[in-house]
Amino acid sequence: MSEQQNVYPVRDDFAANAWADQEKYQAMYQQSVDDPEGFWADQAERINWIKKPTKIKHTSFDINNVDIRWFEDGTLNVSANCLDRHLEARGDQPAIIWEGDDPNDSETITYRQLHERTCKLANALKEMGVAKGDVVTLYMPMIPEAAVAMLACARIGAIHSVVFGGFSPDAVAQRVIGADSKLVITADESVRGGKHVPLKDNVDAALTRPGTEVCTKVLVVKRTGGDVEWKDGRDVWYQDAVNHQSTDCAAEEMGAEDPLFILYTSGSTGAPKGLKHTSGGYLTYAAMTHQYVFDYKEGEVYWCTADVGWVTGHSYIIYGPLANGGITLMFEGVPSYPTHGRMGEIVDKHKVSILYTAPTAVRALMAHGDNVMDSSTRESLRLLGSVGEPINPEAWEWFYRVIGNEKCPIVDTWWQTETGGIMIAPLPGATDLKPGSATMPFFGVVPALVDNEGNELKGATDGNLVIMDSWPGQARSIWNDHDRFVQTYFSTYKGMYFTGDGARRDEDGYYWITGRVDDVLNVSGHRMGTAEIESSLVAHEAVAEAAVVGFPHDIKGQGIYIYVTLNDNAEPTDELKKELIKWVRKDIGPIASPDIIQWAPGLPKTRSGKIMRRILRKIAANECDGLGDTSTLADPSVVDDLIEHRAIK
Ligand code: PRX
Repeated sequence: MSEQQNVYPVRDDFAANAWADQEKYQAMYQQSVDDPEGFWADQAERINWIKKPTKIKHTSFDINNVDIRWFEDGTLNVSANCLDRHLEARGDQPAIIWEGDDPNDSETITYRQLHERTCKLANALKEMGVAKGDVVTLYMPMIPEAAVAMLACARIGAIHSVVFGGFSPDAVAQRVIGADSKLVITADESVRGGKHVPLKDNVDAALTRPGTEVCTKVLVVKRTGGDVEWKDGRDVWYQDAVNHQSTDCAAEEMGAEDPLFILYTSGSTGAPKGLKHTSGGYLTYAAMTHQYVFDYKEGEVYWCTADVGWVTGHSYIIYGPLANGGITLMFEGVPSYPTHGRMGEIVDKHKVSILYTAPTAVRALMAHGDNVMDSSTRESLRLLGSVGEPINPEAWEWFYRVIGNEKCPIVDTWWQTETGGIMIAPLPGATDLKPGSATMPFFGVVPALVDNEGNELKGATDGNLVIMDSWPGQARSIWNDHDRFVQTYFSTYKGMYFTGDGARRDEDGYYWITGRVDDVLNVSGHRMGTAEIESSLVAHEAVAEAAVVGFPHDIKGQGIYIYVTLNDNAEPTDELKKELIKWVRKDIGPIASPDIIQWAPGLPKTRSGKIMRRILRKIAANECDGLGDTSTLADPSVVDDLIEHRAIK
């Protein structure tokens, strides 16, 4: 990546009209790190507080006392900040523009309408017995009701836990149990690319799993009218629950540190972790980053193509844009349906100014050639954004040239579920762009690079990416497991938050994220733990052992490569490979679909029995010359067999 050094300087017209030019960025950044208390006290003014905070920052990364609190004596309601406070000035302005999977299906929802729909559902939830502090699981399509459900939870102080609609029944069950969730909101089916996914059936299956008895109610939106099973007493149609409700519902007064949501994400070990995000700091940070990174201006149509099941959807489809009184576009479908021109057509149809998407989507379009955008002009676009994985310079340039007509800056935004909002990214009026680099830290963010012993590295260098001090959007804990939170993020390097990513800093101080340095994969921008996939595989009767690694994939960024050692009585056939692929898809979900399975009579292990993934990654990437020292292996000969039978040569 370092060879590619095209620089795209900030354009004068952009700098002149942007929320921040270079001088302002530098001054504000300096203040944010010199005087975080003063800086964030000012920024908290962007929120409507019921009781204004007087205590601003109370944070410690000390391993013996990891404790993160922002604005802790303030009170507010997040849904009132996203709705009520906009009613007077922009009640009749669109809040959400919804574009269905079918290009003939769309709906515009004003702030007033969104407020009414949210209040009705909030009242319905209360009637169903949901109270402040309860966890509500959402397993929904990308329809307006998903936004309404999140905001309705926030309104009554319930905590939402959104599960991506592509996950399996087991994943739903695991999350219902983990969060002790007594209500699930879902739909009969979701529609993506013309295909129906049976969400309600999946919930039914999930709720047969032991431990899910805590969940006693399922609220079902009728999306397609497809057939569903019905369990009387448990299942309730959404329309029946909300129709008779009042359009008024007082917003609950919440503490700044009361939880707003839990969101599960994969780590390098064990089951997914439920990150806990709270209210005041999260909203301040989501709103501020949305304003500055996207240079968002009143009245612009802004489109983030993520799913609400991921953190990007939480912060940059719902909370950031709505807190700012913005117009947020929500798309139900996929960029390739009905044709690969769809994304550009949606931009034209709704006059989108800002388009925030993922490198994998850009690469998938790029694979179809420049003509793929011929059905649209995309003249309304002014800014592009990228998130989820490193964007390779070729894809960046194509995004810039073909989608953005060579006139839109690209903000490559690095952040994580754990960070709540964007951490490293250009500000389009302030930062010269280098394709492939996430560039510079956002206000209040103090990144550093450390070696494996935790020594800080200065100047232009590679290293492990850590953050030295807290920022308001940071996750506060792992749900019901603060020790795991401390161990995962604060024990590797003392006194620092460890991101799990590696990065390079160049001579201009620009950050280039190089990818995960732990056993987490990033497949099409979706985060996946190798341990989760491995434990799914070893549960299959034919499998003795499995090792999962990522390998470079043109479209997905990383693909899933699996080495499987079979039990003695199992035959290594192609049918079995197909069966194992199906097995993982069913267990975790289609996003965890293995790309390659290689039979491995043995796996390279140290004498203490630890699998040497470094070697497996190299073989999967067909980099067999640089395997390094294999002499510490218990049985070095297994490597020769793996090399000989590798899938990519
Ligand atoms: O490895 C980094 C990668 O995605 C990880 C976070 O994944 P998740 O929690 O699912 O959140 C994704 C959306 C915020 C990071 O540890 N990542 C995310 N954005 C970028 C990135 N890698 C490089 N460049 C990015 N812009």
